[in-house]
Amino acid sequence: MDIKQIIQSEPVGENITVKGWVRTFRSNRFVALNDGSTVKNLQVVVDFEKESEATLKRITTGACIAATGKVVESQGAGQSVELICESITILGDANPDEYPLQPKKHSMEFLREIAHLRPRTQTFGAIFRLRHAMQFAIHKYFNDNGFFMAHTPIITGSDAEGAGEMFRVSTLDPKNPPLTEDGHVNHKEDFFGKETNLTVSGQLEGELFATALGKIYTFGPTFRAENSNTTRHLAEFWMIEPEVAFNDLFDNMELAEDCLKYVINYAMENCKDDLQFLHDRQQQDEKALPEDKRSMPLLEKLDFVLKNDFQRCTYTEAIEILKNSNPNKKKKFKYLIEEWGADLQSEHERYLVEKHFGKPVILYDYPAKIKAFYMRLNEDGKTVRAMDILFPGIGEIVGGSQREERYDVLKQKVADFGIEEESLWWYLETRKFGTCVHSGFGLGFERLILFVTGMTNIRDVIPFPRTPKNAEF
Ligand code: 4AD
Ligand code: MG
Repeated sequence: MDIKQIIQSEPVGENITVKGWVRTFRSNRFVALNDGSTVKNLQVVVDFEKESEATLKRITTGACIAATGKVVESQGAGQSVELICESITILGDANPDEYPLQPKKHSMEFLREIAHLRPRTQTFGAIFRLRHAMQFAIHKYFNDNGFFMAHTPIITGSDAEGAGEMFRVSTLDPKNPPLTEDGHVNHKEDFFGKETNLTVSGQLEGELFATALGKIYTFGPTFRAENSNTTRHLAEFWMIEPEVAFNDLFDNMELAEDCLKYVINYAMENCKDDLQFLHDRQQQDEKALPEDKRSMPLLEKLDFVLKNDFQRCTYTEAIEILKNSNPNKKKKFKYLIEEWGADLQSEHERYLVEKHFGKPVILYDYPAKIKAFYMRLNEDGKTVRAMDILFPGIGEIVGGSQREERYDVLKQKVADFGIEEESLWWYLETRKFGTCVHSGFGLGFERLILFVTGMTNIRDVIPFPRTPKNAEF
């Protein structure tokens, strides 16, 4: 039986064996045992007269043990049942002089340095169980709504976002690569016979499937070689990208809002203990802060998102709001908003969400110049049917658009963006044969987990973060 089952079913009177890792051992008698199935520990009561001195000494924080005994109603507060231990086996020692995790509060920075052990802490156990539940909820949401998952390639020959921030994939000898006559690396001799990279998005291939299977989504690893050392950027992250034939931009917004609310609600219904733990932890952390510096308590914040309609707002309206905002007038923004066309920074996104509207915001109809080539051009000739969803504390959590379905317009945009048409011939052909209105979006999985767990650094919601100058573990 795992500890979650024992706590749920309270099998009083039964003889059982549990295996797990020692959280604490006090008074030579009470072991708080955790096996990862739940944030809760099982109290194992050891008979110190029966066990040898040597065994008792080896019951230390981090040690792995098996305990056999009878489940009884607990005498103490804090748990309903406990295990009266009849025999204990030390499966793996954890020498207290060396084991870095102690039953006290460690800093997140320190725990990142021991990412091989941090899943054993209560906080990271809760985060990674939630992460699992959320990915399951996403698959369930799309499956239940008639979507098909498409596995798009991880190695690609095209730059979907056109930002050029890609990791090269090559088997050529970097010290001595074959060269062309004019001295460039000859990728014809490379493994794939051309330049290839790790994907920055599965969207383009996703579109091929949407214009065949109708409603699809992808959920895969995504790689960006941007040198962003922020609390919201990873070089390797996971993205969910639905793509739907016949959806316009407003259908797309509805799908995204519905999907986000579904998965957040799923977590609230299915991960109560872990969320409660993270909620309490956040409250504890922020106790020292003055009231106006504290964030909304986690459970309240999640409930708030579920209960409120996301605000729809055009880019042009947002620029007006920002131009006239206090931080802009008082020059408090790092990047002042002076005119239409400016790219919005996270400080502006957060102002709109947290100060101006006070709820999630869907910004749409952005200037064509600051968005990717594939977005549908509006009648005004200068904006595109793009949308970003902005969340409190996070900023952008979703980026999406209605796609340019008109062959001639798309061909022209490809040229205007300086993209080699040959690398996208297959993408362009979907507009030549049976083209249709279609839309999709990308949801950053780690940004979603960041929001749901109330953590503040994206490095703490992925098991082994990849960031500039960091690929340990
Ligand atoms: O806005 P982005 O770049 O959009 C796309 O890639 C489109 N192809 C999506 C689509 O329309 N199918 O990225 C989408 C989301 C962002 O809103 C953000 O949540 C997340 O992916 N994201 C990152 N998450 C972590 N680290 C990074 N470096 C991220 N870059 C984007
Ligand atoms: Mg974006």
